[in-house]
Amino acid sequence: MSGNLHVFDTPEVLARGLADAFVEHAGRAISARGSFNVALAGGTTPKAAYALLAQSPRRDGVQWDRVQVFFGDERCVPPDDADSNYRMACETFLNAVPVPKANIHRMRGEDDPPQAADDYASLLIALLGEQPRLDLIMLGMGPDGHTASLFPGTDPRTDEERLVRAVWVEKMKTHRITLTPAVINAAYAVIIATEGAGKAAMLRTVRDGAHNPVEYPVQIVDPAGGALEWYVDRAAASQPE
Ligand code: 6PG
Repeated sequence: MSGNLHVFDTPEVLARGLADAFVEHAGRAISARGSFNVALAGGTTPKAAYALLAQSPRRDGVQWDRVQVFFGDERCVPPDDADSNYRMACETFLNAVPVPKANIHRMRGEDDPPQAADDYASLLIALLGEQPRLDLIMLGMGPDGHTASLFPGTDPRTDEERLVRAVWVEKMKTHRITLTPAVINAAYAVIIATEGAGKAAMLRTVRDGAHNPVEYPVQIVDPAGGALEWYVDRAAASQPE
């Protein structure tokens, strides 16, 4: 699997690197295209980086009125639910930066999942055109090799046409809404951030092992006209015992 590997000594240093990358990508996109269209990752890994975006100097380094915030995936829960990626992003930084509320585009986890997926696809098309190309998509990776809400067993290759998909995640007994590879791989840039020794074996498998995106969906990430960067800490980059 391709992608430049950036190894940071600790989770704290990784968080600083990830927050700096957000600021850099925002500046480059706004300079080049007048706005920064970014999809946020959910989960726990990006939280420390998001918190740094809420503080000076990084907070002051972004033209927030030019930023459009999207989400890579969402749990099918209300926006105020503890599991909501939207709520996590609001609480870690969106509530603390001057991004216009109208520029924050959440996936409606409280709605019927297929309908919410269709509605989000329509939103992307309305805002970004028929082939939406985001400036940066931030992703994580689960220990099972999932990314966004593309989980093992649900063939991500069938998403060529769809932009957003509602998926049933058997092991979690829940629906999720997720961007599909059609959007992920159209991005100008994708950053996959992952940390911890618990991810080391999977990181090695997906980067160095055979290409098998049905088993390891993160392997489907390969932005055709963009850059794929891995941001990992030393523990995740370690050689698994
Ligand atoms: C989510 C994320 C998911 C996440 C991975 C890694 O909604 O949970 O989109 O894909 O990035 O599960 O999660 P952690 O960062 O918590 O390890």
